[in-house]
Amino acid sequence: MRIAILKEQHAGETRVAATPETIKKFTKAGHEIAVEKGAGANASIRDSDFEEAGATVGTLAATLKGADAVFAVQKPDEKTLAKIAKGTLLVAHLDPAAGIEGVEALAAAGIDALSMEYVPRITRAQAMDALSSQSNLAGYRAVIEASQLYGRAFPMMMTAAGTVAPAKAFVMGAGVAGLQAIATARRLGAIVSATDVRPASKEQVASLGAKFIAVEDEEFKQAETAGGYAKQMSAEYQAKQAELVASHIAKQDVVVTTALIPGRPAPKLITKEMVETMKPGSVIIDLAAPTGGNCELTEADKVVDHNGVKIAGYNNLPGRLAADASALYAKNLANLLPLLIDEKGKKAPHWDDEVIQGMALSRDGAVIHPNFAKEEA
Ligand code: NAI
Repeated sequence: MRIAILKEQHAGETRVAATPETIKKFTKAGHEIAVEKGAGANASIRDSDFEEAGATVGTLAATLKGADAVFAVQKPDEKTLAKIAKGTLLVAHLDPAAGIEGVEALAAAGIDALSMEYVPRITRAQAMDALSSQSNLAGYRAVIEASQLYGRAFPMMMTAAGTVAPAKAFVMGAGVAGLQAIATARRLGAIVSATDVRPASKEQVASLGAKFIAVEDEEFKQAETAGGYAKQMSAEYQAKQAELVASHIAKQDVVVTTALIPGRPAPKLITKEMVETMKPGSVIIDLAAPTGGNCELTEADKVVDHNGVKIAGYNNLPGRLAADASALYAKNLANLLPLLIDEKGKKAPHWDDEVIQGMALSRDGAVIHPNFAKEEA
């Protein structure tokens, strides 16, 4: 199979969908890899590194020529999509949550599109799960960013000149990113607490040495979907949760929010009033910024200063660790490859496989994902 690796076009996107390591693996298996010039520049990978690994490097046109599949981090822009030949397989974060229009456009272009956001959460697919691999790095980076914005130290330090108190860190949403944020804040010496609406998270939070804080009522006990995600909580639950969080947050130095509900805007967990109870110098890192933010004051890709409290809404935290994020994402794609080819290595997506069925948005000019079935009718 001939695979094209694109240079990402989205502003601030530093990652790349292949690394010399995955390219070596692909070429060894007999695949041809074409990389767009400069694709790895922001992830510390030179064109010559790709070439040494066995890829050809060239213009966008040369990269796409004869490609059976295109691998990317984000959805290519319209101009690039128009250059991708009918029948080509496209594997990337295709943002299906943005609505059916984008998916219809892919189908209309005749592109067979597989969305990395839709890798099913089954054990077999864990090695292909880019949401997990990227969230994990985002959780780590959120704490590192917080440590930069926070004008004090994280660990307790006893010195001859006096004692530095440990930072109090609170993580809201203890999924993949949240658990890594807890572990990182603990490693830096902070006193960590965390909240989530899924009961399964309680033990995980405790096992990392953080205190679990949540409204544990009947609704909480039912809050996890079969897919492992949170459900949208009732207004009544959210009010109880807000009350509990309000008193806790006033005492925190660092808050990392990661709460998401798939396909919906992020739940608003921190109001302006809550921010106003926090001490000057406190920091909020809002990982939910791309879907509206967990804090009312969050602005995407900005650090807002509200009465001395800094609220950071970085849109692409994995992109701030471009080399590692690219390496893990590229491996996710390499682990997916066996489901895209036949035993001879020719392009042959396993359309009947549960993983491909979960990811497939369009095929042969039609939208095929069940999430869009009703809207189509
Ligand atoms: P996510 O990114 O969709 O959400 C982050 C966290 O926010 C979740 O833990 C969610 O429960 C929480 N949340 C939602 N609403 C909230 C609210 N109102 N207040 C507080 N917290 C709220 O979820 P993520 O991190 O992608 O995964 C969730 C879980 O899925 C994981 O912890 C894991 O158990 C499971 N999982 C399973 C995988 C597999 O089997 N292949 C792979 C990855 C995750």
